[in-house]
Amino acid sequence: MAAKPAPSPETPPRHVAIIMDGNGRWAKKRLLPRIAGHKQGVEAVRRVSRAARQLGIEVLTLYAFSSENWRRPEEEVRDLMGLLRHFLASELEELISEGVKLKVIGDYKRLAPDLVTMIDQAMARTVDNPGATLVIALNYGAQAEIAAAARKLAGEVAAGRMSADAINEAALENALETHDLPPLDLLIRTSGEQRLSNFLLWQAAYAELLFVDTLWPDFDADTLAEAIGQFGRRQRRFGGL
Ligand code: IPE
Ligand code: IPE
Ligand code: MG
Repeated sequence: MAAKPAPSPETPPRHVAIIMDGNGRWAKKRLLPRIAGHKQGVEAVRRVSRAARQLGIEVLTLYAFSSENWRRPEEEVRDLMGLLRHFLASELEELISEGVKLKVIGDYKRLAPDLVTMIDQAMARTVDNPGATLVIALNYGAQAEIAAAARKLAGEVAAGRMSADAINEAALENALETHDLPPLDLLIRTSGEQRLSNFLLWQAAYAELLFVDTLWPDFDADTLAEAIGQFGRRQRRFGGL
């Protein structure tokens, strides 16, 4: 298989994902409650999703709430859900006017019913938008995503529509929630932590990984441009030479 050519610095990655981490520490540094960090985190989402579109990034995937984040205190989970509600309500018109398609990955159907409705309506209203795609991972866990894909394929086999031998990488990839997105090029995690925390484990197989110390509420267009610059200087090999 021919290796894809390394992108020049002028060629932006098609698909960038961000593990938006460090809201709590941002607030702590300022002696503020954690919710204040999450609020500023939402501002960063607005800023960075606009900047990504301006840089020509086709898909921006943001990790907003993991399937493990339910372990946080009830009050914090409630605050996060409130911010999500507010974000969806306040951002939808801009997404529509900018031609952005909104996609949610993760088991979002387990969120509160009014949020599920808001998400479904936002996705339906933007599904035909021709521009960039903003993917938000909500109640997302990569292991659960892979298990669901395996379950789907097992169902096909059990129903006699597919042979077990046909289960290969392409079939599994096609059964993932990200099947309609371009391959993940760059995965950024903010706040200095260097782990994937159950995010896009399959999709990250050949992504470039970038760990930056910036706390998510401080992340802006310049930080993103710097990350894209670093990506442009990486040499991707895909196993070749
Ligand atoms: C990221 O910030 C936001 C979510 C995970 C929802 P954190 O809330 O994890 O912030 P830190 O890691 O405690 O600083
Ligand atoms: C990962 O951040 C999840 C999101 C950014 C939504 P966490 O702060 O939850 O990750 P851990 O617990 O430090 O691994
Ligand atoms: Mg964190």
